[in-house]
Amino acid sequence: MFWYQKEHDNVLFMDKREVEKGAFPNNWNPNWCVSPDVVADFREMPFPDKSFKLIVFDPPHLYNGSEKSVINKKYGLLNRETWKEDIAKGFTECWRVLDDFGTLIFKWNEANIKASELIKIFPHKPLFGDFTGKTGNTIWMTFMKIPNT
Ligand SMILES: C[S@@+](CC[C@H](N)C(=O)[O-])C[C@H]1O[C@@H](n2cnc3c(N)ncnc32)[C@H](O)[C@@H]1O
Repeated sequence: MFWYQKEHDNVLFMDKREVEKGAFPNNWNPNWCVSPDVVADFREMPFPDKSFKLIVFDPPHLYNGSEKSVINKKYGLLNRETWKEDIAKGFTECWRVLDDFGTLIFKWNEANIKASELIKIFPHKPLFGDFTGKTGNTIWMTFMKIPNT
């Protein structure tokens, strides 16, 4: 949803699901779909170490509500019991497949969980990004994989 160039040759899109166009009733949002190049779980990615120069990690951020609601259908839903462990594993996998001096962008929305809770469990700290409460609910953080730090 946030890509300007969905078909760029150098971009690989991974998601754990595929959803065909026409998922919403009454032809609402007719072109919305989930069409990943690779279907896989971010907790166990099928890529060798240091495969990418730039990674955008945009996991689901809500654990409330029905899987059928529009927002949850579009963004996915966290598991209420295991979300902390799941996001932490996803972060660790992103770090593993990121090349040295590569950049990791993490997107989050604080509707259910504060970003500060995640920063506590991440093994690396962001360099810069949005700060809680200053720019609305959606937050972008930037990390760089600097070797030996
Ligand atoms: C916020 S959306 C990503 C939207 C995407 N950035 C875009 O621009 O269209 C979060 C996505 O994470 C996917 N997801 C949830 N759990 C996952 C997992 N364990 N592994 C891989 N993808 C997962 C969901 O299926 C959902 O499509």
